[in-house]
Amino acid sequence: MTKIIAISNQKGGVGKTTTTITLGAGLVQQGKKVLLIDFDPQGNMTSALGVKEPDELTNTISYLMDQELKSQPILMKDTILKHNEGMDFIPCNINLASIDAKLVNTFSREKVLKRVLSRVKNKYDYILIDCLPTINLLNINALTAATDVIIPVQAEHLSIMGLRSLLDSVKRVKRELNRKLNIEGIVITMTDNRTNLSKIVEKTIRDNLGNSIHIFAESIPRSVRVAESSLAGCSVVQTDPHGKATKAYQSIVMEVLMNEEKSIRKLHEKYRDR
Ligand SMILES: Nc1ncnc2c1ncn2[C@@H]1O[C@H](COP(=O)(O)OP(=O)(O)O)[C@@H](O)[C@H]1O
Ligand SMILES: [Mg+2]
Repeated sequence: MTKIIAISNQKGGVGKTTTTITLGAGLVQQGKKVLLIDFDPQGNMTSALGVKEPDELTNTISYLMDQELKSQPILMKDTILKHNEGMDFIPCNINLASIDAKLVNTFSREKVLKRVLSRVKNKYDYILIDCLPTINLLNINALTAATDVIIPVQAEHLSIMGLRSLLDSVKRVKRELNRKLNIEGIVITMTDNRTNLSKIVEKTIRDNLGNSIHIFAESIPRSVRVAESSLAGCSVVQTDPHGKATKAYQSIVMEVLMNEEKSIRKLHEKYRDR
């Protein structure tokens, strides 16, 4: 069973792209087969994985979506790139913005990405989707294709304002399109233990949301090594293997793997008791 995780928050700059890449690298370290999807027309993930000019690419997720929309044959393998840390990825660029408009008049318009991913998902244990910071049809496509959602929230004043609309669309997608969609949890990002404000904000997030949504035990500290790694075209797991941000992300990977084991066990029990 492939776990497809949408990394989503309608705010930009909260750590979606970083979380997608770093969790992906961490899962590969644990022996998992991983595909990362850049699903933001800004193409930040594509750049951060070392592609110099994302806008020059023709084989991107937009190409796959477009072919699917036109019911044209799809050559997946030319679009899946290999990163030297072991994860595969599908790049993205500005062309994805035009797909949003094309989706409007399409039959089953929320399920186009799901149909694209159904062609490759058997090859992977995990597919992570780096979502764009807007709640539109593209984001709904990501939530419809996903089995789970991880929400990065920056440890910053007012960070939970606006989360409501993301949680509402998750609820709506769950009700109407993807009954089994599960919120895997919130990752608190860019904490700074030297400041009281950061601690207060983290506590506020845990107190306000912790009762209704799982919040990963470790939060991700701010570290200059994270920004440096994306300049180097790889994850912080590679550039700073013993660093604090790497350790925190690795602990989240372990939680994700534990949750997976738990749900497999539950499934076994369900069938055994039948
Ligand atoms: N833990 C961290 N420490 C320091 N900088 C970070 C950290 N996480 C992300 N950043 C930086 O913050 C910026 C925004 O992060 P990014 O992952 O691109 O967010 P989003 O995808 O939500 O827009 C990037 O420049 C990134 O390098
Ligand atoms: Mg991003």
